[in-house]
Amino acid sequence: MKKLLVTTGGGDCPGLNAVIRGIVKRASLESDWEIWGSFEALNGVMEEPMRLTKLEESTVSGIHVRGGTILGTTNKGNPLSFPEKQADGTTKIVNRIPWLVDRLKSKGFDAVINIGGDGSQAISQAMFELGMPVVGVPKTIDNDLSSTDFTFGFQTAVQTASDSFDRLVTTASSHHRVMIMEVMGRNAGWIALYTAISGGAEICLIPEIPYDLNVVVDRIRSRYNNGRGFVNIVIAEGAHAKEGSITSTVGEEGRIAVRLGGVCYTLSQQLKDAGVEADIRETVLGHTQRGGTPIAFDRVIASVFGVKAMELVLGEKFGQLVVLQNNDYTSVPIKEAISAYNVVDPNGTLVQAAKGLGISFGD
Ligand code: F6P
Repeated sequence: MKKLLVTTGGGDCPGLNAVIRGIVKRASLESDWEIWGSFEALNGVMEEPMRLTKLEESTVSGIHVRGGTILGTTNKGNPLSFPEKQADGTTKIVNRIPWLVDRLKSKGFDAVINIGGDGSQAISQAMFELGMPVVGVPKTIDNDLSSTDFTFGFQTAVQTASDSFDRLVTTASSHHRVMIMEVMGRNAGWIALYTAISGGAEICLIPEIPYDLNVVVDRIRSRYNNGRGFVNIVIAEGAHAKEGSITSTVGEEGRIAVRLGGVCYTLSQQLKDAGVEADIRETVLGHTQRGGTPIAFDRVIASVFGVKAMELVLGEKFGQLVVLQNNDYTSVPIKEAISAYNVVDPNGTLVQAAKGLGISFGD
């Protein structure tokens, strides 16, 4: 029997279980593949003894509707820059990929399917370059991986954000308030932009378009002056004013990226300091956007990605990332996909359409 290892890495995201199920179901149509899952990304492989689980059809039955990942995940312990404790108590950052590849090969693994975002796919690429047959599957609610129209999980995050936005509109209108809703997305404004269009926001602030506070204040005042006594703002966690930088970041040892969050409070204070008199309330949606069952669209992409990833393994097409391009499922070299971030184009169709709907980006 040949052995395939499946891992889910980075922040979790709705649809991970659907990918796992797709892989296992497709593999079960063959007679010569055993599928194993590593717990918490590659940590399960790096530990002694290894923490792995055999994935059978019965294990994955019905899991495509469940949020999270049955394998667990982590965004710490990146093997590319692994914080290794030294005998003298200090920590040294080391590259554990060569050791990891040797270990996987010595344990008889013939291939790996790594489900994850840009950080995880950089790990896939490094393993592939050292001779490990790897296939990647693009995951993230942020939708910031290039080469694919959508990552799975993004549409579910937008749905959650949009549902919350609708609720904030009715309370903003009842109290004549300014409501600021902060969404995730790291340095990409996709969740904010889709939510603003879907919900009908007055103002949408995204990292790709640094905002001019005066423009934001004028937009709020004109809404009130026109007798529409409330304002709903969507702000992406990575957004910042023209004059400022991202203020709310926390670094964590062994973590791939810094932690964002709390920018809605910064904006709220900026508006108060600028003399906005209306009541302002802030809502940070946070991890509600990452949890829960995937919507049908994400279940479909994730399931097809799982099947296609297994088919790349069967066809021995390694170093590839499964992607959705122009409504078709195909693959691109992982190296190409991680070479650039997919961020919102300030001059693109979506931003222009949003402006056509009267949404201000503060520019
Ligand atoms: O990349 C997904 C994401 O949810 C980002 O939108 C967010 O900035 C980050 O992960 C949060 O990470 P954590 O779950 O570690 O707080």
